[in-house]
Amino acid sequence: MQQPDPAALSLEDKASLLAGGDFWSTRPLDEAGVPAVVLTDGPHGIRRQRADADHLGFHASEPATCFPPAVAVGSSWDSELAAKVGELVGREARALGVGVVLGPGVNIKRSPLCGRNFEYYSEDPLLSGVLGAAFVRALQSQGVGATVKHFAANNQETGRMRVSSDVDERTLREIYLPAFERIVTEARPAAVMAAYNRVNGVPASENHWLLTEVLREEWGFEGVVVSDWGAVGDRVAALAAGLDLQMPGPDAANDAAIVRAVREGVLDEAVVDASARRVLGLTGLVGNSAETAVPAEHHALARELAADCVVLLKNDNAALPLAEHSRVAVIGEFATVPAFQGDGSSRINATRVDTPLEALRELGGTVTYAAGFASDGTLDPEESREEAVRVAREADTAVVFVGLRGETEGTDREHLELPAEQRELVRAVATVAPRTVVVLTTGGVVSLEEWHDDADAIVAGWLLGQAGGGALADVLSGAVNPSGHLAESVPLRLEDTPSYLTFPGEAGHVRYGEGVMVGYRHYESVGRAVRYPFGHGLSYTTFRTDNLSVDVTGDDSATVRVTVTNTGDRAGKHVVQVYVATTAGPVRRPARELRAFTKVALRPGESRTVELPLERRAFSYYDIEQGRWTVASGAYTVQVGENASRVVAEQSVTLAGDADGTVLSLDSSLGEWLAHPVAGPLLQQALDAGATEEQRQQSEANSGLIHMVASIPARQFLHFPGMSLSIDDLARILETTTR
Ligand code: BGC
Repeated sequence: MQQPDPAALSLEDKASLLAGGDFWSTRPLDEAGVPAVVLTDGPHGIRRQRADADHLGFHASEPATCFPPAVAVGSSWDSELAAKVGELVGREARALGVGVVLGPGVNIKRSPLCGRNFEYYSEDPLLSGVLGAAFVRALQSQGVGATVKHFAANNQETGRMRVSSDVDERTLREIYLPAFERIVTEARPAAVMAAYNRVNGVPASENHWLLTEVLREEWGFEGVVVSDWGAVGDRVAALAAGLDLQMPGPDAANDAAIVRAVREGVLDEAVVDASARRVLGLTGLVGNSAETAVPAEHHALARELAADCVVLLKNDNAALPLAEHSRVAVIGEFATVPAFQGDGSSRINATRVDTPLEALRELGGTVTYAAGFASDGTLDPEESREEAVRVAREADTAVVFVGLRGETEGTDREHLELPAEQRELVRAVATVAPRTVVVLTTGGVVSLEEWHDDADAIVAGWLLGQAGGGALADVLSGAVNPSGHLAESVPLRLEDTPSYLTFPGEAGHVRYGEGVMVGYRHYESVGRAVRYPFGHGLSYTTFRTDNLSVDVTGDDSATVRVTVTNTGDRAGKHVVQVYVATTAGPVRRPARELRAFTKVALRPGESRTVELPLERRAFSYYDIEQGRWTVASGAYTVQVGENASRVVAEQSVTLAGDADGTVLSLDSSLGEWLAHPVAGPLLQQALDAGATEEQRQQSEANSGLIHMVASIPARQFLHFPGMSLSIDDLARILETTTR
């Protein structure tokens, strides 16, 4: 479709394009031939509302496939899987007349308590960014736009529309922005959604630094910046900061404010034109498709995808997979009333829902059932526990389905515990059952402490989407070999989590005091034990890692090669996790950081050598003084980890790194001046020339004491008694360094 030229539109029409035409669409301009484009949640399915609209998932939407939410996809560590979800959601978007999907959400899981963690991939920016980019590319290959959200530092629900996330720049650059950066630069999403919260005091939707300097000028983003629903406060300030489209709409008062600001000379009309042009750019995404229904086969695909997201946390005495023809007692309400997605704007009206109990029965074997508890309190806890114990006693294996209900956008969790009656149920069952398997249904991590040692096996089943019941049955029975790994550390105690003392903040501010030490970066740096580390995940087969080689490919990059072998008797998928550890450079680095990964499918006995590039960024830190990514010269250890805390192979390399780009100024310290290759000798000469013989002898005798004065800013050193240098002398020497 020919895109209309904003220059041909009146100022009023252009301004009106910059807010929605209704709750879910951009504004059509019939006379100018501008159609409306539908934007809709997601992102693990399509929430297409045709009648009553809302952004919290209250009103009905059309049936669509509920694929595994991001918490599950994150645990797959599989970019092909993330891409498949993107492709299928894209197909359904077109079938449902949707042009732009409001996802993926790539915020970092700063605290396990964040109520929306089920919508986010990981505590690690690389994992989040790689999966998000794969999702976006595949979604957009279907002719549908993606919206990366929530930009930025939206890591909690408490006070989400007003709270200021106070984050230092290095932490923003290294932890909270890289997933957005990767997706924007590699996958070119149609839109980026500005978050509700403030970033360092400035609302994200009015944040010029974030929306224009970083997003557009540094990363080259050319798409539309859309507000989160209802996030815009000062419309003119938001527009000037770089926010193109206010949602929802319409908003006649704000349209008028834009027109007025231009007429009064407060806002350059060119800003309106640029935003209007970008919004008009979305018209190429008007959802239309030959398909008008959600394909039925998507349910079976959702089952396959979900199974590869399941994480086997513990499997003592090979309790899993369930032995063929064994007697299985299925216990727990989550086996019949599964939780498979969170609540809020991402809630999908699923086309159908599998339950684990039915799916296990379909796979054969003797399966008995007891509810064990009722989340709504309709069963007597004592009686239902007794019944569960009776059923468990007669089985070879008891599989207990426990979890959380009511995980939702809008509120954070207050603790990490499962409900008390579920914890007690697990312990009671484990006392009598020959083997006890616990299956967790949660949108985030929960404490396993009270009952961990009682269970023989523990399966993290997250929220797996509408086919999760079948997927869990596939993993429990061994039809699918589990291959998920934790995308978030499982702590021993909430008090151990790095954001514990500052989450969710106070007096309107949340201070990201742990800096870059988020998740495993913290636990590994301070040597704090966790129940299960980031990257952990077991399999029904075993893998071996050999022949690690790391070749330096320049001053600041390397290539890693490693051979992995399936040493067991079942086909399985292995995740190669490459971390980099260093103390090079002047900033404190986390003990190790994930810098590359890939998932490899291997038949029994099969070996494969994988090659992974470690580009410049894998070795960099963000230097706030120079305002750029820097590779310090020094030693770097490349580690292959079974997870973030267990290294199975490592090799050290030395990198030349970047030339020291420190720029000397009058405020640089004496030490920095003297160390400078050009200014240092000149300053030394000048100091010597101005000194008396006695002073010279004294200074030679005291040369070891230079470190005592090394930190004094050069400018101030001049004022000490006996100094004959002037500020002009210093300035002249400084000039020689810039020639
Ligand atoms: C959420 C967004 C969502 C929007 C529209 C907001 O409440 O934060 O993620 O896309 O509503 O439903």
